[in-house]
Amino acid sequence: MEEQGKSEVEENFPEYLDWSNTFETLEKAYEQGIFVLVIGPKGTGKTTLVREFAKKKSVKLESINFSLRTRESHLVGSKSLTEGNIQFDEGILIKSMKEGDMLYLDEINAAEADVLLRLDEALDDRRQVVLKESDGEVVTARKSWFVIATINPLNHVGTKELPPQLLSRFPIRLRMDYPPEEQEFEIVKKHVPNVDEKSLTQGIKLANTLRQAASVEELYYSPSLRETIAYSKLISGFSQTMVRK
Ligand SMILES: Nc1ncnc2c1ncn2[C@@H]1O[C@H](COP(=O)(O)OP(=O)(O)OP(=O)(O)O)[C@@H](O)[C@H]1O
Ligand SMILES: [Mg+2]
Repeated sequence: MEEQGKSEVEENFPEYLDWSNTFETLEKAYEQGIFVLVIGPKGTGKTTLVREFAKKKSVKLESINFSLRTRESHLVGSKSLTEGNIQFDEGILIKSMKEGDMLYLDEINAAEADVLLRLDEALDDRRQVVLKESDGEVVTARKSWFVIATINPLNHVGTKELPPQLLSRFPIRLRMDYPPEEQEFEIVKKHVPNVDEKSLTQGIKLANTLRQAASVEELYYSPSLRETIAYSKLISGFSQTMVRK
């Protein structure tokens, strides 16, 4: 991550199309220092939204993607032995608190209970963590510290309900869903400008039919924006190959 919280990969990403005025809500939350929980199914643009927001605010973004394998030490840090000296290597939570960065906790409901407990401590009104791992040092977050977390809906493999006290640390909850067809069309065009528009319209219609079937549990899996973008890349790549022949 460079100074402005941009990485090379992010530079190549098309801009986030803010079709449901989400930036406005994020902006207000950020000004007031109220933490935000973004809730939505896979591939609805949650990660892209957070990255773009950090970019807009020109702040450094620290991210962690939770899974059952995420340990307290990833968040808080751990001791290591270097050339005979014991030192404490700060985890991402402590680093972001001390620097006052933006912290992105991705798929927070995939984390284990002990990991969530440490977050509870940091995210309450005092915004402090006592580092039992580092001689009881008390870390207090800088004022600019800001936290955004995401969760996938509960039917997602490996996810569980967030404990109520942790949920209450995110008073602003943003629900994201798949965009209306016209907006999805615009988004995919941003990613694949030369896509055949008629095929794209049909592809998006099909994706939406499958999403509806999945929402009433007729289907186990449905395509996200990731798939409509990939489909468009495939069909436009295919037509280019045909032209070359
Ligand atoms: N509003 C948007 N504007 C531009 N691109 C978008 C938008 N929404 C989604 N995308 C694109 O769709 C793809 C999936 O988005 P992203 O990875 O942000 O979704 P996600 O909700 O974080 O998914 P997951 O839950 O699987 O982590 C990305 O390529 C992203 O750039
Ligand atoms: Mg994501």
